[in-house]
Amino acid sequence: MIQMLSVSKKYEDGYYGLRDITFTIARGKFVFLTGESGAGKSTLLRLVYRAEHPTNGTILVDGLDTAAAHGKSLTALRRRMGMVFQDYMLLFDRTVFDNVALPLAVRGVTREVIAEEVDKCLDQVGLSGYQHRMCSSLSGGEKQRVALARALIAKPDIILADEPTGNLDLSNGEKIVEVLHEANRQGATVLMATHDLYLVQSTRLPFVRLRGGRKVEEGNF
Ligand SMILES: Nc1ncnc2c1ncn2[C@@H]1O[C@H](COP(=O)(O)OP(=O)(O)O)[C@@H](O)[C@H]1O
Ligand SMILES: [Mg+2]
Repeated sequence: MIQMLSVSKKYEDGYYGLRDITFTIARGKFVFLTGESGAGKSTLLRLVYRAEHPTNGTILVDGLDTAAAHGKSLTALRRRMGMVFQDYMLLFDRTVFDNVALPLAVRGVTREVIAEEVDKCLDQVGLSGYQHRMCSSLSGGEKQRVALARALIAKPDIILADEPTGNLDLSNGEKIVEVLHEANRQGATVLMATHDLYLVQSTRLPFVRLRGGRKVEEGNF
């Protein structure tokens, strides 16, 4: 469960990325975070992942105050989440394999199992055979799918996906949403940011809509 309680984020330049956001996402839900560019979607996802701190308010993940997580408990919290950053945050001077393997490597999984899981995961996102490509040489859409594979590989409880279809054509975008749905059917809670209101409406899934850092609509919960 993800709970945002009166969360605001003021950036160093004095600008508010989010203002007084409150909502709850129950465990196992698939929820879209929507709104135009600049609405605050990326800010919100980065706050849940604890890549940034809120200026005010509380964020709870399964009842745990994320602000209280430090050191080992922060590592444990992050490992429960798979994040697809809007700007990918890949290790660009490393191969696709190295990037996707990372969450399993840090957990001490054996090389054989890692190799199998990376193959499966790349297949899922439509990148079979990309293991040895350098991330720096990939297109935007390919990088996006590598970032998704890395977020999924350790089967996190929570998936935070920031515009994961943003650089993809319609049919590849649909495939990626299907991959997220499959992870959701297997139990993951998914929060996916997209500016694509058409996508949100066509799936009829719950959504939170932001504008100018404020929550302006919450639908279908
Ligand atoms: N690091 C930052 N410093 C200052 N302002 C920021 C920073 N990151 C985002 N913003 C501002 O916060 C607002 C929300 O941004 P963002 O969360 O990226 O929106 P979205 O993902 O919906 O496009 C925007 O006006 C943006 O310019
Ligand atoms: Mg964004």
